[in-house]
Amino acid sequence: MSDKPESKVPPRAPLAPPRSTATARPPLDPAARRPTLSSPLRPAATPTRTNAAPVLPAGAVARQKIVESLGKIDVSGREFAFTPADFERVRALIYKQAGIALSPIKQDMVYSRLARRLRARGEHRFSDYLDNLERSNDPKEWEEFVNALTTNLTSFFREAHHFDTLANMLRSFDPKRTVKIWCCAASTGEEPYSLAITACEAYNTMTPPVQIIATDLDTNVLKHGEQGMYGMDRVERLQRERLQKFFLRGTGEQAGKVRVRPELQRLLSFRRLNLLEPAWPVQGPFDAIFCRNVMIYFDKPTQYTILKRFVPLLRPEGLMFAGHSENFMHAADLFRSLGRTVYARTDQRG
Ligand SMILES: C[S@@+](CC[C@H](N)C(=O)[O-])C[C@H]1O[C@@H](n2cnc3c(N)ncnc32)[C@H](O)[C@@H]1O
Repeated sequence: MSDKPESKVPPRAPLAPPRSTATARPPLDPAARRPTLSSPLRPAATPTRTNAAPVLPAGAVARQKIVESLGKIDVSGREFAFTPADFERVRALIYKQAGIALSPIKQDMVYSRLARRLRARGEHRFSDYLDNLERSNDPKEWEEFVNALTTNLTSFFREAHHFDTLANMLRSFDPKRTVKIWCCAASTGEEPYSLAITACEAYNTMTPPVQIIATDLDTNVLKHGEQGMYGMDRVERLQRERLQKFFLRGTGEQAGKVRVRPELQRLLSFRRLNLLEPAWPVQGPFDAIFCRNVMIYFDKPTQYTILKRFVPLLRPEGLMFAGHSENFMHAADLFRSLGRTVYARTDQRG
């Protein structure tokens, strides 16, 4: 599973002391530390040898080696050197790239998510990794950086009442008209497949006149969604009838897994879309926009900018669905609440 749990708590190194931004100590840097040891280590060199390498007594050489090797280990017991300044730098970069406003207490999360990238790149310090990221400007590494920092928690029929509302809406439509739905933070696909299942049930056919555009910023989750393959644990809470009708049981190497039926896959198209970027590769108008549990990562000005761009993409009578903890009161000029985090365009009042 590429799903990263929302509250993933990284295993703490046994030696790690309680840390906060204020108290976190920078890693031991041999270059930086050496001056503090300079008195005992300073050779009894004569002023005439200024360009020659200093000759150290044997004991001092051994001590210097120990100090240099310590530089490879973060004082907190971590594998990679990670300072408060590195954390602030990551926060600024992910905000700029994806609009994600990381809370100041997410240091452990950032460390554990990006440690894999440092390992993959053979880096020892976050500062070196970030320097290289910015200097090389390699789009592939930027993609990995962003993918590592997104939180993709999702499930089938999460906040189930929204799917009932959608089903009622679909039943009220002329069945000859093609309905378009945009799921703009689709994660690993459970949400857009739940939309597809809802459409099949509402029209009572496996080929309903519905197109679902599933987008996300994270390219790893999009691959997962496209495959439509899930562990049994992901579907165990689904009604048995739905499971039988819309999923195929894996065999051989896929034993213990299920795959969504190809009929559902045909209703969906997955593509990468960063809600922060000026160009969105989608074309409205949509009957419904599902934008759930992603705005929570953005600050209010970013939310407002995105909501403003939703308005012309949503049909006048269309619905916008938000996550259970999201509230767009600050954008009341754009969207009005119909209750239970379902919104309609404000300009269509009455
Ligand atoms: C917590 S998941 C929510 C998944 C699903 N909508 C749900 O409610 O179950 C948030 C998703 O938003 C995506 N995301 C974060 N920032 C984004 C951005 N700037 N543009 C598009 N998607 C983004 C993440 O990759 C992640 O898959």
